[in-house]
Amino acid sequence: MLDESYIQIALELAKKGKGKVSPKPLVGSLVVKNDKIIGASYRNSPDEVSPEILAIEGTKENPEGSTLYTNLEPCSSSQKDFNCLDRIIASKISRIVIGSVNTNPSSGGNSIKKLKRAGIEVITGMLEKECYELNKFYFKYSNSSIPYVTLKMATTIDGKIADKSGNSKWITSVESRSMNHQLRSEHDAVLIGYNTVKKDNPQLTVRLVEGRNPKRIILDSELKLSHHSDLIQKNYDRNLIVVTSKKNKTRKKKIAKFEASGVEIIFAPHKKNDDLDLTAILKKLGEKNITSLLVEGGGKVFSNFISEKLEDEILIFVGPKILGNGYSLTNGFDVKSLSKALKYYIKDYDKVGDDLLIRLIRR
Ligand SMILES: NC(=O)c1ccc[n+]([C@@H]2O[C@H](COP(=O)([O-])OP(=O)(O)OC[C@H]3O[C@@H](n4cnc5c(N)ncnc54)[C@H](OP(=O)(O)O)[C@@H]3O)[C@@H](O)[C@H]2O)c1
Repeated sequence: MLDESYIQIALELAKKGKGKVSPKPLVGSLVVKNDKIIGASYRNSPDEVSPEILAIEGTKENPEGSTLYTNLEPCSSSQKDFNCLDRIIASKISRIVIGSVNTNPSSGGNSIKKLKRAGIEVITGMLEKECYELNKFYFKYSNSSIPYVTLKMATTIDGKIADKSGNSKWITSVESRSMNHQLRSEHDAVLIGYNTVKKDNPQLTVRLVEGRNPKRIILDSELKLSHHSDLIQKNYDRNLIVVTSKKNKTRKKKIAKFEASGVEIIFAPHKKNDDLDLTAILKKLGEKNITSLLVEGGGKVFSNFISEKLEDEILIFVGPKILGNGYSLTNGFDVKSLSKALKYYIKDYDKVGDDLLIRLIRR
């Protein structure tokens, strides 16, 4: 088989770790000798030994002279990683084929240099785009300490996210909603604004597919979140975080009540218009090792993320319906003319159930 086919298998293996390995990258590795896979592994938790080592040490025969395939350059940012490189070198593999170079500033390219110095043939850039895409959360976070931000919205054809009474159940099909639960399970955290809690009483958990629940974050400047809300009543895993204004630090009784329900409170600065400062919030989430954030609305939250250029991508599920009036995708967002419109390109699109899913990146 070609190198590319083996890297494709490494990619598929790496995907099995989605939602389980953060803040580490997704990695799949194979050891191939005489065109036969003699060892394979992938990262399934952040604390495991590197998959490259597991693949080599689990080989059914002596790995000497074989080729190691891995979707990401092995890490070299810590002493532990250097030991990992030493173990790769000690195995006497003769070749390593790498999908994407690790752009982590403390790592990038160092492993490749060390492996080459040890006489191992190193090939890089195999299915590079796909390998880079798979670890987009890791790359953004390791380069900026800020989570990768995905805005996910469900709209009608005419760009409405709810009818005029604020009802948004359901704009899209059950297939799209299942995919949304899949997205939740793959992101470290989801975030919504207070008005969406008030209107929808959501749980923000993963129920329609198998997978772990993300952290659930509410922007609530005034600490108004009701104790009767499903978010608090069903906070069984204690993953609920309420972000509120610093000025609420003195409301000790209210804070104690939230904390007794397992709610974590993050105090954040607010802007002149009283909205919480999103840039400061993303920084705080990064400090908590949250590498990816799925922003689920509503309109005001989408608008502020977009106007402050904080999104890395937008996922729109378009349901084939027209409302004419209702809540718009953006709220309080004012572009003066078409020439000043924010511009995006379509990265990809797909049909999901009856809906169209479009992935957009800012130009
Ligand atoms: N179709 C969809 O994809 C979708 C998804 C979600 C929601 N929805 C619908 O959207 C509607 C609610 O949207 P909405 O625009 O009224 O409100 P929203 O975006 O859900 O929440 C906005 C509220 O969040 C709080 N907030 C604090 N800091 C903020 C910041 N920096 N940026 C934005 N908000 C901040 C503010 O309330 P405080 O001042 O009280 O903190 C603000 O009024 C509902 O009808 C819901 O059903 C639709």
